[in-house]
Amino acid sequence: MTHPNLTRLKDQADAAIEAFLKQWPESAGDGLYAPVHYLMRLGGKRLRAVLALSAAEAEGTSCEVAFPAAMGVELFHNFTLMHDDIMDAAPLRRGKETVHIKWDENAAILSGDAMYTLAHIAFAQLSAEALPKALRLFNQTALEVCLGQQSDMAFETRNDVTVAEYMEMIRLKTSVLVAASLALGAIAAGASEERVQLWYALGEELGLAFQMQDDLLDAFGDEQVGKLLGGDILADKKTFLRLYTQENGGMAAQEVLAKWDGQRHDAPAKIEAVRAAMTAAGAANAARDLMHAHVAKAMASAEALGLEGSHLEWFQFLGGMVTQRTS
Ligand code: IPE
Ligand code: IPE
Ligand code: MG
Ligand code: MG
Ligand code: MG
Repeated sequence: MTHPNLTRLKDQADAAIEAFLKQWPESAGDGLYAPVHYLMRLGGKRLRAVLALSAAEAEGTSCEVAFPAAMGVELFHNFTLMHDDIMDAAPLRRGKETVHIKWDENAAILSGDAMYTLAHIAFAQLSAEALPKALRLFNQTALEVCLGQQSDMAFETRNDVTVAEYMEMIRLKTSVLVAASLALGAIAAGASEERVQLWYALGEELGLAFQMQDDLLDAFGDEQVGKLLGGDILADKKTFLRLYTQENGGMAAQEVLAKWDGQRHDAPAKIEAVRAAMTAAGAANAARDLMHAHVAKAMASAEALGLEGSHLEWFQFLGGMVTQRTS
């Protein structure tokens, strides 16, 4: 799946990030920056940066005014991945070893902290008018991501998590940053408060769909995902897939889940058994239906923003990309 805007904006984001990071060479800082360069160079879709640049363009400015915001959200995102991979005991990221495996946990903690600070340094390059609004939103977002990650972990050992709790958890851990990426791009472009809120609403719905597809890929994707497949099943993550299976899979599903909950040994057998129970319950189709409903809500916000022509078409493409992506 490609689109001229995708390559154009991703290339610009990549170039801006690379130029920015030159200030902190890989060989400097006693090794502090090496994991930063490693993770940033492993690639990634740069979705959050592309969203920030896209909102600025849709607001009628050059995307360059949003470079500080694009770099800030992308550095922050990659910081959360570095820590998330420790929390999730994940061995693979973007098809390569995670930082805490390649180095160690201390390196991933501290280089992650450094990236969080680099994100603030990037935001500080915004215009004097945009900066206070941007920082208020960014700091609120960062705190909400922590809340979402806390719930994600707490839910691993709970068996009474509801779909509503799951939706709120993914809103916090993932959606708010997708939403903020658009809103920060709009703030950089000098958009009105009302329009910034509409951008945020668009991103919130897009982000829910994005995380639902992330969960689908974790359970049912292929090696293109670049992460350990079935990692969520292994960790007893309370994804929609899992909650739906528990609720609709009958006794057979409940027995499979009860048998494997809390087990980390014999990972392939656990993953295969739980995945089969999910398939039998029709969980993937139910998840896809809900995911598409959220994309439809995102597109309603795109219309409320009055996007038209190539801008509307581009956001429609992004909505499709979120649900059809394979990595
Ligand atoms: C992964 O994000 C973490 C989630 C919030 C789902 P992405 O799928 O955007 O990861 P990269 O940056 O493209 O690798
Ligand atoms: C991660 O969710 C959300 C954040 C990093 C804040 P996941 O744990 O599902 O992300 P992946 O699948 O490891 O990329
Ligand atoms: Mg993870
Ligand atoms: Mg996680
Ligand atoms: Mg995931």
